[in-house]
Amino acid sequence: MPESPKKQNPAPLLLKWYDRQKRDLPWRDNADPYRVWVSEIMLQQTQVATVIPYFDRWMDTFPTVRHLAESPLNTVLKHWEGLGYYTRARNLHKAAQQVVSDHAGHVPDHFEGLLALPGIGRYTAGAISSIAFDRAVPVLDGNVKRVFSRLYCLDENGATPKSENALWRVAESLVPPKRPGDFNQALMELGATVCLPKKPACAACPLKKICAAAAQGQQDRFPPPKPRAPSKKIEVSAAVIRRNGKVFIQQRPHKGLMGGLWEFPGGKLEKGESPEAALTREIHEELGVRVTPGEKLLTIRHTYTQFRVTLHVFPCKLEKGRLNPTQCEQWKWVLPEELDRYPFPAANVKIVAHLKNGGGPTRNGTS
Ligand code: ADE
Ligand code: SF4
Repeated sequence: MPESPKKQNPAPLLLKWYDRQKRDLPWRDNADPYRVWVSEIMLQQTQVATVIPYFDRWMDTFPTVRHLAESPLNTVLKHWEGLGYYTRARNLHKAAQQVVSDHAGHVPDHFEGLLALPGIGRYTAGAISSIAFDRAVPVLDGNVKRVFSRLYCLDENGATPKSENALWRVAESLVPPKRPGDFNQALMELGATVCLPKKPACAACPLKKICAAAAQGQQDRFPPPKPRAPSKKIEVSAAVIRRNGKVFIQQRPHKGLMGGLWEFPGGKLEKGESPEAALTREIHEELGVRVTPGEKLLTIRHTYTQFRVTLHVFPCKLEKGRLNPTQCEQWKWVLPEELDRYPFPAANVKIVAHLKNGGGPTRNGTS
């Protein structure tokens, strides 16, 4: 009986390829577990090319776990600025403090000890224990999932816990006792550079001879597409309030969704509420004043990762009362031409563009 692809062990082919082709990356200079850890956290949601300068700067400023643990959180966050998903930086900082207080400054050298630290899940614990400590523990990221699905024609995409578990079992069964860290990195690297989502470079792939999908010309069928959850729809009203040629903007609280970005005041419509009524209510709640919405300026539709927004924008006239913003970080009256100095969420950027392009019926009182 011919051997089925399932029985073929990719490790020898993969390691040979890795020895010849591996990228020269700063965290591969040595297997200092702290360096491996920082690099794996940075790489979780960010591309290699983006990570490199951040990693180098990080290591200049925080060369050891102890340096990191003893630095103020603000300095740590500043070094993360631009990488996004700031929880990663907060957890790194917290975990470094735990390593100092509970482990005398030594990064735990086994899976369970690593897993107990903030921000370290199954993937990261597997990566650190295999790469830095040579333990035969698997990793599974999006790239590795794709490689497995194709290599064995598995109808798995990891979209459900069951499917994810099935792929972890494959990873577990394949990770070799020798050079597990290189094997894991080779898999991830193959997925990132050769076994690409759209056009896999099978001709250049070390696993071509043992790949079930390639043998059948079915690379495009694996992994099966994930069902897209219909994203949530929300409706929001926003106000353009003017005074002496300037427009009112406010800064979102630093914590939470789009923290620290600027926006026009307003908020979500409640069930059955008209956009105008929602705006009047929200502005009263947020700013302590009554406004009268004028004729609608524009309707903006925007799709974020998590939801789809319909944004109703109204010019608003301030009625009685002093502005008393209570729910924002700070607020400002700015000239329309100065608006693009402030970072706005994407949907608000469209309002800014509109205002700069003439701005509708209330602009400078000229219409
Ligand atoms: N992606 C995340 N970590 C990686 C690593 N150590 N090698 C290659 N690709 C990666
Ligand atoms: Fe991916 Fe093609 Fe290599 Fe198979 S042969 S693992 S589909 S790149």
